[in-house]
Amino acid sequence: THISLLGVPVEEGAGRRGCTMGPASFRTAGIIEELQELGIEVNDLGDLTPEKATDAKSSHSHLKNLPEVAGWTRSLYQRAYELANENTVPVYLGGDHSLSLGSVAGTAKAAQEAGRPLFVLWLDAHADFNTFATTESGNLHGTPLAFACGQPGFESLLGESLSTCVDPRNVCIFGLRSVDKRERELVVSQGVEVCDMRAIDENGVSTLISAFLKRVEAANGLLHVSLDVDFIEPEIAPAVGTTVPGGATFREAHLVMEMLHDSGLLSSLDLVELNPFLDDRGRTARLMVDLTASLFGRRVMDRKTWSF
Ligand code: ARG
Ligand code: MN
Ligand code: MN
Ligand code: MN
Repeated sequence: THISLLGVPVEEGAGRRGCTMGPASFRTAGIIEELQELGIEVNDLGDLTPEKATDAKSSHSHLKNLPEVAGWTRSLYQRAYELANENTVPVYLGGDHSLSLGSVAGTAKAAQEAGRPLFVLWLDAHADFNTFATTESGNLHGTPLAFACGQPGFESLLGESLSTCVDPRNVCIFGLRSVDKRERELVVSQGVEVCDMRAIDENGVSTLISAFLKRVEAANGLLHVSLDVDFIEPEIAPAVGTTVPGGATFREAHLVMEMLHDSGLLSSLDLVELNPFLDDRGRTARLMVDLTASLFGRRVMDRKTWSF
């Protein structure tokens, strides 16, 4: 494996400031060294610079920081498209979740050209499926999946409509426990797969994740994973602005990562919503780095089949 790290220090999509420090915090927590330790070649591309998008306007006046978020989206859309065409696994270090407006769309465009369906695993307490018309908060980090799935009304983001979108039936929102009313209706009507916390409690992470990975494999799909810090239980991952109690445990989160690694299907990754301003002696940053190491092959022992 070869990994390219790209910092995307956007914070304008979130309701509170601090995610701009995310990429620096991932590096301080040792993300490069931990991945190198696994024998992986890591290329740190530094931090992305946003374009100016002063033309980005919307009639929905409650949207926050639209021109700033549009500028990040345009830069990252292009960059993610280019990286998807290289022989590397890009890891986007956020930054708030509005980062995925660019990363998913750019990756989807490259997947389409390669003739392969793009699947998206959204590890998050939230659905992030609001449109400009449905968002109650006006925070654009609540919109990236709706944008990537081709919902209308996002034209001002790129200055044109999206050429390629992700099939919503190829999206799995995993860990859901907070969704707005109209957002929920959209998720259902679009046929998105949802594994909410109840489904995880009843079935366990392993059954649900392997079913999804089987679908990706059967379709010869590419897999983009978007990991929001708030997927994890806030008691162990406090550095996020939108905590919701009842998140994935330490062991559940690591198991998801280990299963993703064993599948060999991952093609790109977002690590988002880390707000170091809210962290407790770096523990959330370190947990995110450890989860990333599990995702890229760190393990206690080689897997064996147990027989009792
Ligand atoms: N649904 C809420 C909203 O649209 C919360 C979104 C939280 N998103 C996130 N990426 N943390 O405002
Ligand atoms: Mn999110
Ligand atoms: Mn979230
Ligand atoms: Mn909302």
